[in-house]
Amino acid sequence: NTLFAQMARTQRNKATAHHLGLLKARLAKLRRELITPKGGSGGGTGEGFDVAKTGDARVGFVGFPSVGKSTLLSNLAGVYSEVAAYEFTTLTTVPGVIRYKGAKIQLLDLPGIIEGAKDGKGRGRQVIAVARTCNLILIVLDVLKPLVHKKLIEHELEGFGIRLNKQPPNIGFKKKDKGGINFTATCAQTELDAETVKSILAEYKIHNADITLRSDSTADDLIDVVEGNRVYIPCIYVLNKIDQISIEELDIIYKVPHCVPISAHHRWNFDDLLERMWDYLQLVRIYTKPKGQLPDYTSPVVLPDGRTAVEDFCLKIHKNLIKEFKYALVWGSSVKHNPQKVGKDHVLEDEDVIQLVKK
Ligand SMILES: *[C@@H]1O[C@H](CO)[C@@H](O)[C@H](O)[C@H]1NC(C)=O
Repeated sequence: NTLFAQMARTQRNKATAHHLGLLKARLAKLRRELITPKGGSGGGTGEGFDVAKTGDARVGFVGFPSVGKSTLLSNLAGVYSEVAAYEFTTLTTVPGVIRYKGAKIQLLDLPGIIEGAKDGKGRGRQVIAVARTCNLILIVLDVLKPLVHKKLIEHELEGFGIRLNKQPPNIGFKKKDKGGINFTATCAQTELDAETVKSILAEYKIHNADITLRSDSTADDLIDVVEGNRVYIPCIYVLNKIDQISIEELDIIYKVPHCVPISAHHRWNFDDLLERMWDYLQLVRIYTKPKGQLPDYTSPVVLPDGRTAVEDFCLKIHKNLIKEFKYALVWGSSVKHNPQKVGKDHVLEDEDVIQLVKK
């Protein structure tokens, strides 16, 4: 009897998962419109890349009005900025480029993410395009009412194909010309089965593909992989106005993952916030050493984690430099001997020193 009830429940759960999966696929398709940059007017991703050149990393700030986002931005930029505010697009401003540990970090206000960017018209679309190019997103919350705002903002960002503090799903997906849906799961699945996977794929008119679920996956995960236009961005929740809570409450807040409590007004805890930003950005600083001179420790070449080969370093300096590259001498944690002769594929680590030798 209990087994029967359990089976019925499982079947019901599976059926619900099945329907929900389908609906989610339909919603995702509707929303794709918003993410795909339109050519011509309204601003595409091109602008985003232009701005990236002025800094080593871009941090986008999102928050409801009156949570203190502007105060935070202007106080942070005011204290640490070396470049004046400038208008970035017609509706986003770069309040400042701060220099931290030798890296230039853009602080970028992202207005309109909440106020109806959903409609996908001009303004909203532009902000979404910029948001998707950020290396880190800071969601600014009022410590007195954080949860509702947090949910709403996360929901909006999710809708724009932005995944916060998440790794890409571990799903293998390969479209084919024939052979039907070849479904493999290498571990137990609580939500997806062959049928649900098939019908979600059918929503996308995909009838022939290899699908391998390598971790316990959800319909959302599968949809993310099929849509393929998701960006995975680290996120920090900045809890502002901690001058209005008790010490006991502060104790609790400090333990919440990805949260940093601050007071933008009193400029409290900015050092912790910056340190956390630095951790999440995972930037790698490389110091250059001209031949016969000491390394230049004042202005490192800053690379994003995962793209720190010597070749990436050369590309960051000049796009043609690699053509003249013969080898490099490297000092630091990425090598066994100091210095060590390396080729263009050698992967550099934070605070390495490099000297390029040209042909
Ligand atoms: C099914 O997919 C797996 C994993 O991608 C692959 O190794 C296998 O060859 C596929 N089988 C067929 C019949 O295509």
